[in-house]
Amino acid sequence: CKAHRGTVLHFLEDPGNEPEPAAGSVAFFEDGLLIEHHGKVLVAGDASAWLHQLPEGTEVTHWKDQLILPGFIDTHAHMPQLGVMASYGAQLLDWLETYTFPHEARFSDMDWARTEANRFTDLLLRYGTTSGLVFCTSHPESVHALFEAGEQQGMALTAGKAMMDRHAPENLKDTAQSSYDDSLSLLETWHKRGRQRYAITPRFAATSTPEQLSLAGKLAAEHPDVMVQTHWAENTGEIQWIRELFPERSSYLDVYDHYGLLGDHTVLAHGIHIDDVDRKRLSETGTRIAFCPTSNTFLGSGLLDFREAREAGVSVGLASDVGGGTSLSMLTTMAEAYKVCRLRGQTLTPWQAFYLATLGNARVLHQDQQTGSFQSGRFADFVVLDPSGTPQLAMKQEFTHTLFETLFNLMILGDDRAITASIVAGELRHQAAGTDAATTYF
Ligand code: GUN
Ligand code: FE
Repeated sequence: CKAHRGTVLHFLEDPGNEPEPAAGSVAFFEDGLLIEHHGKVLVAGDASAWLHQLPEGTEVTHWKDQLILPGFIDTHAHMPQLGVMASYGAQLLDWLETYTFPHEARFSDMDWARTEANRFTDLLLRYGTTSGLVFCTSHPESVHALFEAGEQQGMALTAGKAMMDRHAPENLKDTAQSSYDDSLSLLETWHKRGRQRYAITPRFAATSTPEQLSLAGKLAAEHPDVMVQTHWAENTGEIQWIRELFPERSSYLDVYDHYGLLGDHTVLAHGIHIDDVDRKRLSETGTRIAFCPTSNTFLGSGLLDFREAREAGVSVGLASDVGGGTSLSMLTTMAEAYKVCRLRGQTLTPWQAFYLATLGNARVLHQDQQTGSFQSGRFADFVVLDPSGTPQLAMKQEFTHTLFETLFNLMILGDDRAITASIVAGELRHQAAGTDAATTYF
C-alpha cells in the first residue's frame, strides 16, 4: 500500500446549506492520512492513529500544508467544445449555429478527436477533476477517442454520442435508426469496460425527431443501468421553439417524459426556466438536474433557483458545461454557483459546494460506491489543494481562521494554481510544476 499525509476532508452525507454542516456529514482530519491499496481507499483517518500501523517500507507522501479531498466530479461537459469556449456575443440558439455546430463537425476525424480528447482529460486533471458525465459529438469517433483517453488515465468517465437528426448541419446529422445502432454499438463496446460507462445522449428535443427520441427511450428501457443525458429548459427562445415543435405535449419536460427519458438515471443539463409541476415530476421520477452556472451567466440563459429545487427534493449536481461554460475548474464553477445563488437572494455554503463537487455529484451519477468520498473500498481518486496556491489566496491566509473560511477562499479565489496534484485510482496523473511533496518510507 501507499499513504498520503495532509489535511484530509471528505463528506459522508449531504451537509445541508446552513453555516454549520449537518452532524456527522463531514469527516475531517487536520493531520490526516489516506492509505491506498491497489488503487482503492483502505482508510482515511488521523496520521497519529495510522502512521505507526503502516507495514514497514510503506511509501508516505507528505503534502505539507495541503488539503486532500476526493477528486472533483463534473456532471455535464462537452469534450468537443474546448475550442468553443469564450465565443462572443451570442445566446444559446445562435451560439449553437454560429460557433458550436461548425466546430463539432471536425470530430468525424479520428486524429482530431484523439488530440482533443487527450487535451480534455489532461485539462480535467489539471483542474482536479477525476470523473464526469460528458457529451461527445454525433460522430462515434469522438466517443472512442474520449473513452480511450479516460481509460489511459484510469478515470471514470460516463459519455455518449450526441443523437441529433434534425435542425443541424448535414455533417453533424445522424438518422433515428443510425443513432440507435451507433449508440448501441458504442454501449456494447464501452459500457462497464473498466471504469468507463456509456450514456444515452439525445442532444436536446429541438435536434431530435420524435422517432429519434422514441428510439433513445427504447434504448434506455433496454439498458436500465445506463445513464441518459440531455439539455433542458436552458433558454427562453429554446423553450418557445420546443413548444412549437411539440404542440401536443404539455411542457418541455413532458416531451422527455413522453418518450421514456426521465428517471433516476437521467441528468438534464440546466433546468432553469421551470415550475412547480416540473419540480414535482423531477422529484417523483428521480430525474437529476446539472446546475451549470458559468454557462448560464456567460450565455445569458438565466439563474437556476437552487433552493426551490432542493426544497422540492430534486437531486441537483454541479457542472461546468464547457464550452458554454467558461472554465473546466470546479472551484470556479462553485464560485459562479455562489454568485447565481446570491442574485436569487440565496446562498451556497462551502460545505454544500464542496459536497456537490464530490459526493453529491458522485450520487447524481450513481458512482458513489466507486468515488466521491474516502470511505474504504472506493477508488483512491483525490485532489491535493493548496490553500495559498495563488497570490490572492496567500494574502488571504493571514485573515483566515476557520475551515469554513479556508474552503470558501478556495472556491471563490481558487483556480488551477490551487491544484497541487490529481491522483486517480492511486496513480499520480497531474502535479503542478514547482510543487514538491516529501516522500518518506516507514
Ligand atoms: N443545448 C443543445 N446543445 C447544447 C450545447 O452544446 N450546449 C448547451 N449549453 N446547451 C445546448
Ligand atoms: Fe451542455
